[in-house]
Amino acid sequence: MNLSGKVALVTGGAVRVGRAIALGLASAGAHLAVHYHRSADAAQETVAEARRRGVKAIALQADLAGPEEARALARAAEAHFGRVDIVVHGASPFVRASLSGTTPEIWRQVLGVLVDGFFILARELTPGMVARGEGNIVVILDRGTFDPWPDFLAHSVGKSALWALARNLAVELAPHVRVNGVVPGPVLPPPDYPEEDRARIARGTLLGRWGDPQDVVEAVLFLLRSDYITGEVLFVDGGERWAHRRPVGSRLE
Ligand SMILES: NC(=O)c1ccc[n+]([C@@H]2O[C@H](COP(=O)([O-])OP(=O)(O)OC[C@H]3O[C@@H](n4cnc5c(N)ncnc54)[C@H](OP(=O)(O)O)[C@@H]3O)[C@@H](O)[C@H]2O)c1
Repeated sequence: MNLSGKVALVTGGAVRVGRAIALGLASAGAHLAVHYHRSADAAQETVAEARRRGVKAIALQADLAGPEEARALARAAEAHFGRVDIVVHGASPFVRASLSGTTPEIWRQVLGVLVDGFFILARELTPGMVARGEGNIVVILDRGTFDPWPDFLAHSVGKSALWALARNLAVELAPHVRVNGVVPGPVLPPPDYPEEDRARIARGTLLGRWGDPQDVVEAVLFLLRSDYITGEVLFVDGGERWAHRRPVGSRLE
């Protein structure tokens, strides 16, 4: 897919990694619907930066855990631009809680955004993609998609379910719509993340360092442009998932 002139909806596109993805798409010439939940000012700033890169852009607010809001988001994006060609689903409440701390409200909120919200967006936006014969979806996953991560129970289960949904869509919507996933490793720590934790996590990758949001952007753009890839996941994690397989003695202690 040539991204220039296409219309992309980026969920969670106002801040941090989502913002980098949105601006990467803008730099590639895609018009943008920048979705946000609470980061209204940041969303306006991202939109302004996208416009400086020469594309059309709007900010759209929605709590994606609410089906009506997810539906309204999809319809507003389509109404504004006339179509949506690309969806990047990066919105993801990052809640640290194991079973005992995961209230039903947390569970509903996290799975609501990761799974239900994406389900509604897909139901709303993929019929147009299929009718036009072209559509492109990337979901942003993480290590909890494939490995248990009990400290982040709802997050881990939600990402697994999101990938299960995405790969089903890759099958159902082929050949018109391609659906892929990116699995970032440590690319951007939360604000005020302790230095010793940063260092420990860096040691837990094969490359011995943190990545950068731009590494994720490059992977998203690669998958969007790669017309013969669908139903695939691309890890951008510095080899974090294989670090436990390093020969004893070679670890970065
Ligand atoms: N940072 C990393 O190193 C890393 C590593 C692995 C995977 N990832 C993945 O990359 C993506 C972005 O990561 P990040 O660290 O930049 O994220 P983040 O700082 O935790 O931001 C969370 C995002 O989710 C949105 N969000 C939260 N609750 C929402 C709701 N109820 N409805 C709609 N949107 C909601 C937020 O929107 P508002 O700010 O507008 O409220 C924000 O855009 C996520 O999918 C994450 O799992 C990141």
